[in-house]
Amino acid sequence: MSVHVPFTDLAAMTREVRPAIDQGWAQLLERSAFIGGEAVVEFEEAWAEYCGAPHAIGVANGTDSLQLTLMALGIGPGDEVIVPTNTFVATAEAVVLAGATPRFADVSPQTLLLTSADFEAAITNRTRAVIVVHLYGQMPDMDSLGRAADRAGVVIIEDAAQAHGATWRGRPAGSMGRAGSFSFYPGKNLGAFGDAGAVVTADADLANRIRSVRDHGRMAGSHYRHELIGTNSRLDAIQAVVLNAKLARLDEWNEARRSIMMRYRAAFASSPVRLVEDTPGGQGVYHLAVARVPQRTRIQQHLATQGIQSSIHYPIPCHRQDPYLRFADGRLPVSEAAASEILSLPIFPHMRDDQITQVCDAVLEAVSAAEVHVA
Ligand SMILES: Cc1ncc(COP(=O)(O)O)c(C=O)c1O
Repeated sequence: MSVHVPFTDLAAMTREVRPAIDQGWAQLLERSAFIGGEAVVEFEEAWAEYCGAPHAIGVANGTDSLQLTLMALGIGPGDEVIVPTNTFVATAEAVVLAGATPRFADVSPQTLLLTSADFEAAITNRTRAVIVVHLYGQMPDMDSLGRAADRAGVVIIEDAAQAHGATWRGRPAGSMGRAGSFSFYPGKNLGAFGDAGAVVTADADLANRIRSVRDHGRMAGSHYRHELIGTNSRLDAIQAVVLNAKLARLDEWNEARRSIMMRYRAAFASSPVRLVEDTPGGQGVYHLAVARVPQRTRIQQHLATQGIQSSIHYPIPCHRQDPYLRFADGRLPVSEAAASEILSLPIFPHMRDDQITQVCDAVLEAVSAAEVHVA
């Protein structure tokens, strides 16, 4: 079956930025400075400004950006970090890699994001931090989470891997916690041509420690003195060139995603398809268009027969994944129920009008066929 509507279209984005990247790479090859250097500094400055944060530190990927942040905050063995179970496994993985213990929290049935009540229910006297995940490109109620974290004396780290450019009451994702973590995996709203990531923060000391930890714990200005135990997690200059070129398009591409989501909302308004709700006060960037549907397998199969790709983010909540069972502490019913109903529909900046219509029609057809089947 040929694909009429792919899940995403990276090649269309690449075509748009190719001239700028060709030029940037030509200069880079001429200089042959592949680690650090001008392109990385240029991107770090631009990304900090875009996120409304004084510092950005480029790293190798989004998992490292979380792990390095935890390490630089001194969070490790004996400490607990609260993580919503409805997230990509890397959020919890980074906590374990830092030597700390993830404590899983449930999410809101409307947004599938962490709420202050879910967060507070997971707090213990060992809780040092909470990783607030802006899943699907949408920020949760950061005011009530901020108040709850202050009351508990717990640090907020934002996992904004899916939320480049999202805002909460006008404040950019990544700028509201002690640190904000980003992935630039190729399929993200801002994606490199391989793995890449960054941390943004207003805390200058934390920024310096992360700069050191990403580079073998080196002391600033010295090649041979190591002040911390670190790792190798630097942002490659060839990726920084790509990110600089794509950053110039990010707002336009996010706007395109928003208008596709509006089409989906209008099309499914009076159907049993329930798109994950926006948080009032937040402006999302729709990395994913996630709907809760009846009879998901039948619907996904129907879409496939029409040449429409779809996916699931994520079919197994973290606390139900084998290596994380030892951290699980009871049921998290909202996430468990959602995991069997959620379906991610195609959404990408270059999606054509006729492709959007095709998805809407096919989903509605599949839903009514599924309803007949139930009856
Ligand atoms: C929510 C979330 N957190 C963390 C990550 C990890 O990022 P990376 O794949 O760049 O390590 C991802 C991306 O895959 C993600 O979606």
